[in-house]
Amino acid sequence: EQFFQTGQLLSGRRVLVTAGPTFEPIDPVRFIGNRSSGKMGIAIADALARKGAAVELVLGPTSLKPNAGQVRLTKVQTAREMYHAATALFPNMDAAILAAAVADYRPAEAAQQKIKKKGDSMALDLVKNPDIAQALGQMKKSGQVIIGFALETERALEHGAGKLKAKNMDLIVVNSLADEGAGFNHDTNKVTFLGAGNKPREFELKSKAAVAEDIVAALAELLPQRR
Ligand code: CTP
Ligand code: CA
Repeated sequence: EQFFQTGQLLSGRRVLVTAGPTFEPIDPVRFIGNRSSGKMGIAIADALARKGAAVELVLGPTSLKPNAGQVRLTKVQTAREMYHAATALFPNMDAAILAAAVADYRPAEAAQQKIKKKGDSMALDLVKNPDIAQALGQMKKSGQVIIGFALETERALEHGAGKLKAKNMDLIVVNSLADEGAGFNHDTNKVTFLGAGNKPREFELKSKAAVAEDIVAALAELLPQRR
C-alpha cells in the first residue's frame, strides 16, 4: 500500500482548520472576544500543508497568518461567519481540525450607534452562538475525521471526554490551563489526546509547532487508508 503512495503523507487530502478567536459586536466600536491568538491552529495548518494536504483555514481576527503558501485562507469575524464558512467547506473535506476559540454567546443585538454611558450599571443581553464542532459532527459522513480541542481549567479529561462524545469527534486534544506554559499567548503547549476507546495519550510540554506535528501524525493514522 505504501508503495503506491507517491507524494507526502497527506498529499491529496483536504483538511479544514478553524483557528483564532471570534469577535462578537456590541456596537460599532466594541466586541466580546477572547485571548486566543490563533497560534495553535495556524501551526496545524502549516504542518498539514508541509505534509502535502490541501488546507482550508477559516481564521478569526488575529494578526498572525499561515506561512505555507498552499493554505487557503478565509478570514471571519464572528462565530456565525465561521459557522457558515466551515459548514460550506466541510462536505468536500476529508477531515476537520477545530482549533478556534469560538465565543459561546453574542450580544442579542449589535447596536447601530456607539452605546452611550448612562447609569451606574448596565446589562447586555446575550444569545448562544452556533456550535460549529457539533454541526460538523452531525454532518460527518463515513470516512471523514474530526479532531477538536478542549481548553479546561479543571477536570480536563472528564470534560474532554464529554465533548468528544457530544460532538461526534474522533479525537480531542485536551489542554489544561492549570499546566505551566500551556494555552493562550504561549509558544508552548501541553496536551493529552483522547480518542474513543483508547487510553489517554499524555504529551510533554513542547512547542506549538511540535504539538501540531503530533496532531497531524494522529490525523494521518485516523484517515482511512488509500489504495
Ligand atoms: N467549538 C465550536 N463552536 C462553538 C464552540 C466550540 O466549533 N460554538 C469547538 C472548539 O473549536 C473546540 C471544541 O468545540 O474544538 C470545544 O470547545 P470548548 O469551548 O472547549 O467547548 P464548549 O462546548 O463550548 O464548552 P465550554 O466552553 O462550556 O467548556
Ligand atoms: Ca466554549
